[in-house]
Amino acid sequence: MEVNVYGRALLPEQIEALAHRDLVGGLWDELGMLQFEFLKSRGLVPQHRLLDVGCGALRGGLHFIRYLDPGRYHGLDVNASLIDAGRRELVAAGLADREPQLIVDGRFDVGRFGGTFDCALAVSLFTHLPMNHIVRCLCEVRGVLAPGARFYASYFEAPDSAHLASLTHAPGGIVTFYDADPYHYSLRELSFVAGLAGMQVESLGEWNHPRDQRMLAFSVRE
Ligand SMILES: C[S@@+](CC[C@H](N)C(=O)[O-])C[C@H]1O[C@@H](n2cnc3c(N)ncnc32)[C@H](O)[C@@H]1O
Repeated sequence: MEVNVYGRALLPEQIEALAHRDLVGGLWDELGMLQFEFLKSRGLVPQHRLLDVGCGALRGGLHFIRYLDPGRYHGLDVNASLIDAGRRELVAAGLADREPQLIVDGRFDVGRFGGTFDCALAVSLFTHLPMNHIVRCLCEVRGVLAPGARFYASYFEAPDSAHLASLTHAPGGIVTFYDADPYHYSLRELSFVAGLAGMQVESLGEWNHPRDQRMLAFSVRE
């Protein structure tokens, strides 16, 4: 059973027509730049090794790949057609020679890249995942974080745990659900799942996301 829409493969002609930009949520330039500026504000430097979980068609990846030293960007996504679209975006942006490492994987097996990461990111991923998938993601990412590294993940915030009613978020008007995609979670629920994965989480709150996603920073539990 598919847990979100991302099992859907785009056809080459749809990629040609830039349908991948809509499938990952649109706002291509704005959300790409937002995540890039956010990680820079958190100390990202060109020498860092970056992991982008649920990288999609490289909306943010294009900016990171341009900025990081060659070979330092690592993106993983369940949807092969989005990774294909990302490769086309790279060519169009003149970045094909920057050696990004891209993997298609639906079980967050980030150990396949080898080595550890100075920083990890998941923008608009947890918003599409049920809780048990988030736990799997955190367990896998935990295993590849360098000492002191953070895993930044955006989410839709619920005011309390087991918030069964739908929520309409402003700005943006996105409606989220307790048990359907797009999902909302309370900070307490995400602290709990972080603990299951041997991690702790800090709420960073708003980060100028145009659809009211909030930002979290996960780190290995001390
Ligand atoms: C809203 S898009 C965001 C993509 C990218 N982070 C960005 O900002 O453009 C969510 C992405 O998560 C990916 N995704 C969903 N479930 C996944 C899973 N189980 N493993 C890896 N990627 C997944 C989707 O294929 C999609 O590319």
